[in-house]
Amino acid sequence: MRVAIIGQGYVGLTIAVGAAGTGHEVIGFDVNDQLVSALNAGTSHIEGITDSALSPLIGSGAYKASTDASVIDGCDVIVIAVPTPLDEARNPDLSFVSAAADLIAKNVKSTKLIINESTSYPGTLRHEIAAHITLSGVAHFYASSPERVDPGNAEWNVKNTPRLIGGLSPEAVSKAKEFYATFCDTIIEVSSPEVAEAAKIFENTFRQVNIALVNEFAQIADALGISGREVLNAAATKPYGFMEFNPGPGVGGHCIPVDPSYLAHVANEVGVPATFIKRANEVNLAMPAYVVKRVVAGSGGTIKGKKVVVVGVSYKSNVADTRETPAAGVIDLLRTQGAIVTWHDDLVGSWRGETSAPIQGADMAVLVTKHDGLDLAALKGCGYVFDCTGTIAGADGI
Ligand SMILES: NC(=O)c1ccc[n+]([C@@H]2O[C@H](COP(=O)([O-])OP(=O)(O)OC[C@H]3O[C@@H](n4cnc5c(N)ncnc54)[C@H](O)[C@@H]3O)[C@@H](O)[C@H]2O)c1
Repeated sequence: MRVAIIGQGYVGLTIAVGAAGTGHEVIGFDVNDQLVSALNAGTSHIEGITDSALSPLIGSGAYKASTDASVIDGCDVIVIAVPTPLDEARNPDLSFVSAAADLIAKNVKSTKLIINESTSYPGTLRHEIAAHITLSGVAHFYASSPERVDPGNAEWNVKNTPRLIGGLSPEAVSKAKEFYATFCDTIIEVSSPEVAEAAKIFENTFRQVNIALVNEFAQIADALGISGREVLNAAATKPYGFMEFNPGPGVGGHCIPVDPSYLAHVANEVGVPATFIKRANEVNLAMPAYVVKRVVAGSGGTIKGKKVVVVGVSYKSNVADTRETPAAGVIDLLRTQGAIVTWHDDLVGSWRGETSAPIQGADMAVLVTKHDGLDLAALKGCGYVFDCTGTIAGADGI
């Protein structure tokens, strides 16, 4: 099939490479000129796709990136994989989805299969995408298949992660199944796009709420003078009815801190209070302040004038993604306490107008995210280490 994928970020490029690798002819459309040039030169910007995986697909013509919207009309399948962030008031920002729908309405003149993989609240495919594109006068097949990719996860990938599909018609579902069956092992059909959309945001709400629960518990355990992690590890020995979640400095990335607010938004519209989501957001967003409070307490009551290095500023191990990272709050709050703060993260390199600094030379370190290959000797060389990851034996931390 000829496939156009709108948005070549973490999700779009991953799907593009998955589809191109199984014989589809894929156009990766993106509005970012520099990104498109880099992709066409064989340079991937995400950890899960190596340059050596991308280059042969470009060489064989199976994959090409483009900023030319007119090429989309030559495709059979159009996949939308654009950002769905929150606005300043932490409400859903569907402007990128609307722009993608608009682009299809303006450029596509014959019937296609249109699939939305972007995460959003139930009703997005029907009311925000299909209703808008239909105004162009062209009828299409519409399906929703929310992406579940977990960047950096070595075990679960596009191929072996079960894929949900819900469509606006049986024909749309059957065409979407035919497409995904070429590069996904397991496809689960649900009765409507709304079920697929809601399942995706519920999955991430489940994680957000449980992470908040262990984050709150870690604070209770510390105040009780026991190790929260030891308690959680002990609880995890129960072979049924318990699922392990770990405390940390907060939540980051484009999913866990964001998607639950999409569910809260629609809950509010139908008059049902989403109390767990609200409370979980409060707990997780307050974790950087808790980390800094503990760092100050662990350093004798003040960090004024101390050189502090924050180690690992992306939101999770072995990825360079800094979206919504709790490291930002930790750094800002350490600075308000008068510390001289640098950060170290070789994967991120530069961020917020600053560049990664060496660990050596700092008076103390706060380990927010631990990437493979971290120089543990340098970390331990800092007088005091506060560990948010639970991986440095003997260190103070959560
Ligand atoms: N990152 C993840 O781990 C992950 C996992 C599952 C689902 N999702 C969801 O997938 C969607 C995409 O997320 P992402 O992480 O890939 O985002 P991203 O920011 O990595 O990539 C999005 C890309 O879309 C491009 N873009 C924006 N507007 C466009 C437009 N109108 N036309 C063409 N391209 C446009 C951007 O330039 C960018 O390259 C979101 O809804 C997200 O919630 C993300």
